[in-house]
Amino acid sequence: MTADSAAVLASEARALTAEAVSALEVASSVAELTAARPDLLGRGSPLTGLRRRLGALAPEDRPLAGRALSEALATVESRYDARLEELRAAERRRQLEAERLDLTELPEPPQVGRLHVITQTLQRLEDVFSAMGYTVAEGPEIETEWHNFGALNFPPGHPARDMYDTLYVDHGPPGSTLLRTHTSPVQVRVMVNQPPPLYVVAPGRCYRQDTADATHMPVFHQIEGLVVDDGITLGDLAGAIETFTTAYFGPGFTSRLRPSYFPFTEPSAEFDVQRPDGTWLELGGCGVVHPSVLEVCGVDPERWSGFAFGFGIDRLAMLRYGIGDLRDLWTNDVRFLEQF
Ligand code: PHE
Repeated sequence: MTADSAAVLASEARALTAEAVSALEVASSVAELTAARPDLLGRGSPLTGLRRRLGALAPEDRPLAGRALSEALATVESRYDARLEELRAAERRRQLEAERLDLTELPEPPQVGRLHVITQTLQRLEDVFSAMGYTVAEGPEIETEWHNFGALNFPPGHPARDMYDTLYVDHGPPGSTLLRTHTSPVQVRVMVNQPPPLYVVAPGRCYRQDTADATHMPVFHQIEGLVVDDGITLGDLAGAIETFTTAYFGPGFTSRLRPSYFPFTEPSAEFDVQRPDGTWLELGGCGVVHPSVLEVCGVDPERWSGFAFGFGIDRLAMLRYGIGDLRDLWTNDVRFLEQF
């Protein structure tokens, strides 16, 4: 002990300071550094231990050695604080980096949906007829035999029923309920429910027993037209068809009527549309509403007369959009649908 002197203590203090400083520089995290603090600066640390040896020094040596020790502790303390701040900052940076959202690489834009090509066609047809003063009506797809046939002048067993390959529904007495084979039952529903004058179109799904191929489907769409007013004639029908043809297809198109037969119109006709290249497209059926139909629906045939027409929408869409196979309209393949 007697060998101790201020110089020895001071040199030990310098050595311990250097050791402590390199130890705290090595600490690589806040946790590691704070865990090392007792060994570097705590009561049991070698540097603090030197203090206990001050008492053994000659009294005149003590202030000098004491100052050297205090300086050593202050150095380690301040290096410790600096290192702590440095490690904290590094950890904050790492956390921010980890939580950063990279907004420079956006994911693929979401696919935007669109209306089905048949819906688009329906809406365009509705627009054209609205502009001609018609309102839009709707009827059920599951119909009574009476609305689909009876009220439309097809008596039971009438051969014209064979034109429609009807799908019957197992509901009520056999043969009383069916999937509508055309939109014409909506004529009946409109006349039963509303007094003339009537200017109505009714688009919707229809069903017939049919094997699916490129041009036939057991489910298809029609649009029905019905006008009932004062003194309506076949001429009004031809005019309405012609107006519709140019409004929907364009100025280069014209229409014609060919005699035909439907039990619920008299006279009846098929109507065709002529394309600018001169070729004809068969579109649908039409005619002057049969007086018995008016009567059965509660419309006085002495007072009112009317015309009706109906045509398929799917073939129209095929034509307009160049669709080759009707079945593509039902498979819901996005690659097909997104073309329209
Ligand atoms: N409903 C008939 C059909 O589907 C078409 C039609 C409608 C004919 C209106 C005349 C009047 O064949």
